[in-house]
Amino acid sequence: MTHSPAKIHNERITIAGRMTLVSPSATLQLTSKAKEMKSKGLPVINFAAGEPDFDTPQAVKDEAVKCLNSGFTKYTPSSGIPELKEAVCRKFKDDNGLSYVLENIVISCGAKHSLYNLIQVLCNPGDEILIPTPYWVSYPEMVYLAGGKPVFVPTSQENGFRAGVEAVKKAVTPKSKILILNSPSNPTGGILEEKDLKALAQVVVENNWVCISDEIYEYYLYENQKHVSIASFNEEIKKRTFVVNGVSKSYSMTGLRIGYLAGDAEVVKKIGILQDHSTSNPASISQKMAVAALNLPKSHRENLRKIFTKRRELMLSLLAQCKGFKPFPPQGAFYVFCDISKTGFSSETLCEKLLEEIYVAVIPGKSFGSDQHVRFSFACSEKDIEEGIRRIKEWTEKNVK
Ligand SMILES: Cc1ncc(COP(=O)(O)O)c(C=O)c1O
Repeated sequence: MTHSPAKIHNERITIAGRMTLVSPSATLQLTSKAKEMKSKGLPVINFAAGEPDFDTPQAVKDEAVKCLNSGFTKYTPSSGIPELKEAVCRKFKDDNGLSYVLENIVISCGAKHSLYNLIQVLCNPGDEILIPTPYWVSYPEMVYLAGGKPVFVPTSQENGFRAGVEAVKKAVTPKSKILILNSPSNPTGGILEEKDLKALAQVVVENNWVCISDEIYEYYLYENQKHVSIASFNEEIKKRTFVVNGVSKSYSMTGLRIGYLAGDAEVVKKIGILQDHSTSNPASISQKMAVAALNLPKSHRENLRKIFTKRRELMLSLLAQCKGFKPFPPQGAFYVFCDISKTGFSSETLCEKLLEEIYVAVIPGKSFGSDQHVRFSFACSEKDIEEGIRRIKEWTEKNVK
């Protein structure tokens, strides 16, 4: 994809052409609109949030205080402190059976930053990047910003939103270079099971592609599902996979901005150089907080799972009572992706109406590549789930034929 011509902003300022290809993040826009309405006193129920509602664990907060008092407030190495890289290596070994050394790890300012940098380092103008739909909003935009071309691989609610090998093969051209996987998925909550991943790994290796595996929701799993990393099958796939993860979703640290990735040491070195000349290190205090988070006992994630399992069940049972809504039971993450095609509204119109008429914030599926869905987050209290969906049920009874 070549960039569009530069856009004239006014007679003095010309905006770079690459910016004409990227759209604002619909999820961030809607979340901030809902927050603004709430701050004005409106009784908003927020199903738009992409962040857990529980507090950052106390041991993590204590670490921040220690850092402040001991003066750990200066520059660190751009690619992250060795102590955090060691904790990340331990995490990969314990949770995913993956062995890495510090040279394979780079710490960035959130998993979003890890993904952005990785795509900047790997993608040449014109390269095609395979992205299963529905997709997380930022993947295509990151590809555009690197001059690449996102190529979408369709999936369906009927097949659990799984990117099958046949669909991937259909999307391939000689320019295909990278396959992006996100399991558990935002927005669908679908997961790729071991057999799906094995088949995809084989295609990646046979075609000499790179795989980016975004595993940020790995602790949010339901119905006894187990997380498997595609990099864990054999050395061949591991060598060409970059596993991206972070502490935002797992430890309620979204504002602290720590993400990380593991993969080929040469590529990792280049990401370090990119960080040298752009952000420098992620915040020193946040890095130490991430070490504390990664050292928390396993009971932390088990508690998460228990709480979110209850919310998931509640949300699914209530949504099933809303006229025209067909929710997909997520196997992971904390979203319910809901087919709304039977309501007769487009996803954007429906979300606009729900927010303006009954103060319920939901994200239109259009921003994730499916206009016949909307995304509900259940990272909120059971009380909010009950009240928000009660309002939607009442609204659909009046407005859906
Ligand atoms: C699929 C996916 N990947 C990455 C991220 C980025 O997370 P972070 O807050 O660590 O940048 C998000 C956040 O919404 C996400 O949903």
